[in-house]
Amino acid sequence: MDEAEFLKRLDRIRDIPTLPSIVLELNRLLQDPETPVARVSQIIERDQATALKILKLVNSAFYGVRSKVADIRSAVIMLGFNAVRNAIVSVSVIETLSRRIRLEGFDATDFWKHSLAVAVTSKALSARTRINSPDNCFVGGLLHDVGKVILAQYFPEVFAAVWQALREEGRPFHEAERGKSPAGHAAIGAHLAARWQLPQGLVEAIRFHHDYRPDLANAEFCLVIHVANLLVNSYDRNPDCVIDLAALHPDARKFIMGTLQRAGDFYAALAEEIESAYSFFLPSSTSG
Ligand SMILES: [Fe+2]
Ligand SMILES: [Fe+2]
Repeated sequence: MDEAEFLKRLDRIRDIPTLPSIVLELNRLLQDPETPVARVSQIIERDQATALKILKLVNSAFYGVRSKVADIRSAVIMLGFNAVRNAIVSVSVIETLSRRIRLEGFDATDFWKHSLAVAVTSKALSARTRINSPDNCFVGGLLHDVGKVILAQYFPEVFAAVWQALREEGRPFHEAERGKSPAGHAAIGAHLAARWQLPQGLVEAIRFHHDYRPDLANAEFCLVIHVANLLVNSYDRNPDCVIDLAALHPDARKFIMGTLQRAGDFYAALAEEIESAYSFFLPSSTSG
């Protein structure tokens, strides 16, 4: 079976997660700047659970808006369409995919912790470099590994084979999956994001988070997610590690050397924000 066949098989799975229809609708409306604010807030308010979650998110310490946002209309006006869209996508993706999966090598909490760490790091890299928007980068980081959930949940036998290769050969996941899975987690995640009608840049960033290429249509955005994943993977394992810059794509090397004189310090400074992302998005996994 090749990648295309595998992805077709994925399309035939009936209970493949889909985002709630309100999220799809908002996602479409919020990409059009001509959509009236009133229309957007009406749709959000129709769904009380979503409305509450958005208000909770924008008022959380994690979001860092100074004055209190009391209603959806103000949230939409204050934050803008893009931030609202990303907030909705973040909240609903975690909810949609958070079913407990019991599988050796896959721990849903660890998975989301990694994803959130990459999300916060991507957001910080965007704020520092002014590449793309911090909100887009947060979602890119949050979703970059989403294909792993799909592998674990719908193709557990494939996931188990990858996990075994990873353990026996001590290679990272994206290398271990070569030859074990007809499609890598990056291709699977991108396929899903496209099905969810998420923006093309996001689909590309997911698809190429391990294989950055400067000729991508959204190369800068992809580079942010690529570098964020690299920083998290390196410094989460060992805060004192030295990243082997020579092994990186020249653009990633330039990015790290040019914008982050001390990448380890940059990442360490994000610890508090990463913790607050955990307690907002994964309340049951953190104590207190
Ligand atoms: Fe990955
Ligand atoms: Fe990752």
